[in-house]
Amino acid sequence: MRLNNKIALVTAAASGMGRAGVTRFAKEGAQVVAVDVDQDKLTQVVSSITDAGFDAIGIRADLTDDAECARIVKDTVQHYGGLDLVWNHVGHPGYSRVEDLDGADYEITMDLNIRSVFRTTGAAIPELQARGGGSILFTASIAGLTGSPFSPVYSAAKWGVNGLMASLAGRLASDNIRVNSVCPGPIDTPMLNVFMARPDQNADRDTNLEMMKGNIPLKRVGTADEVANAALFLLSDEASYITGVALPVDGGYVSK
Ligand SMILES: NC(=O)c1ccc[n+]([C@@H]2O[C@H](COP(=O)([O-])OP(=O)(O)OC[C@H]3O[C@@H](n4cnc5c(N)ncnc54)[C@H](O)[C@@H]3O)[C@@H](O)[C@H]2O)c1
Repeated sequence: MRLNNKIALVTAAASGMGRAGVTRFAKEGAQVVAVDVDQDKLTQVVSSITDAGFDAIGIRADLTDDAECARIVKDTVQHYGGLDLVWNHVGHPGYSRVEDLDGADYEITMDLNIRSVFRTTGAAIPELQARGGGSILFTASIAGLTGSPFSPVYSAAKWGVNGLMASLAGRLASDNIRVNSVCPGPIDTPMLNVFMARPDQNADRDTNLEMMKGNIPLKRVGTADEVANAALFLLSDEASYITGVALPVDGGYVSK
């Protein structure tokens, strides 16, 4: 098993890619801590893992709150005795145009994509150092590698995530801590509907989705499992010589 004896913390784990990740990591031998604000969905995902005979707990937390970002790390260490792997997956799709943006829209986009990730990672680093090493993964986006005309604040935040990732990769290498990010393209999760319902020359959601698929070399959206596979690889020892990488999981979108 690829994550045997590893303690793994995953945020936004009750849906989409996070859910696919915790399910997969547990099957690969990890002791998994699934974090999400949605208690009902969290209970479902944790039960599905433990009912299958694997090891997981759920922690409900609202990661817009700095104290909660630190508490999830503390609770993980208290329960499992340490922390080896962190997937900072939580994010927010943000809102539309810069001209229409109000302060609250800006705050929530920055708080969930950037601020919470700083806080969780800041709390986790000493715990990984105490274990003699570990692996940190961020979820950025293709919007963190290119411009995103209909999600400008989201794009700015995800570029920030990749900047944080690269900065930490350099600093933490001497602590045997690797730091990478996954940069998903459009992935079939509830959040995709938010992105696709945005105005694109006034088209509707289905038209936007077809246009998006047309711009992807593989001509389809990705699945949550396909991103979880990439996350598993980057977090595992199989990626032992990989740090500071922003890996597109995007059907070739940014390669064009
Ligand atoms: N789906 C896509 O097409 C896509 C593409 C690129 C990047 N992403 C990124 O992937 C991540 C999540 O996407 P997904 O598609 O798996 O999402 P999803 O919509 O399937 O799940 C998001 C989860 O986040 C949880 N959440 C929301 N607010 C929270 C909060 N304040 N505290 C804790 N948890 C909270 C929700 O309850 C939900 O379970 C985000 O970082 C997003 O920016 C998504």
